[in-house]
Amino acid sequence: MRGAYPRRRGIALLGLALLAGGWIGGCDSGREDPEESLLRERCGLCHRYDNALNKRKSATGWERTVWAMRQRGAELSDQEAEQLVRYLTQKRALP
Ligand code: HEC
Repeated sequence: MRGAYPRRRGIALLGLALLAGGWIGGCDSGREDPEESLLRERCGLCHRYDNALNKRKSATGWERTVWAMRQRGAELSDQEAEQLVRYLTQKRALP
C-alpha cells in the first residue's frame, strides 16, 4: 500500500512530540510538582522560569546554578534551594 509508511511515521513523530511536550511543558496541568511552582514563582522573575528546564546538568551543576541564582537575588530558603536542586537533578540530569 502506497503512503502507509509515511503516515505511520508521521503518527510516531507526533506521539514523540506530544510526549516531549508533556514532559517539558507540563501539559497535565491538573497536578503540578510543588517544585514546579517554586520554579515559576522564584525563578521566573528574571528570565523564563523554564530556563532551567531546557538545560541538563550534573547534581553539582544544579547546585552551583541554584546557588548562583540565589546570589543574584532568587528568594529561596536553604530548604527550598535543596528541594529544587534535588528536583532539577532528578528531572534534568545529564543524559
Ligand atoms: C534575580 C534574578 C534571577 C533570578 C531570581 C533567577 N535567575 Fe537564573 N539567571 C539570571 C541571570 C541574570 C542569568 C544570566 C542571563 C541568562 O542566561 O538569561 C540567569 C541564567 C540562568 C540559567 C542559564 C545559565 C546556566 O547557568 O545554565 C539557568 C539554568 C537559570 N538562570 C536558572 C535559574 C533558577 C533555577 C532559578 C531559581 C532558583 C533562577 N535562575 C532565578 C537571573 C536570575
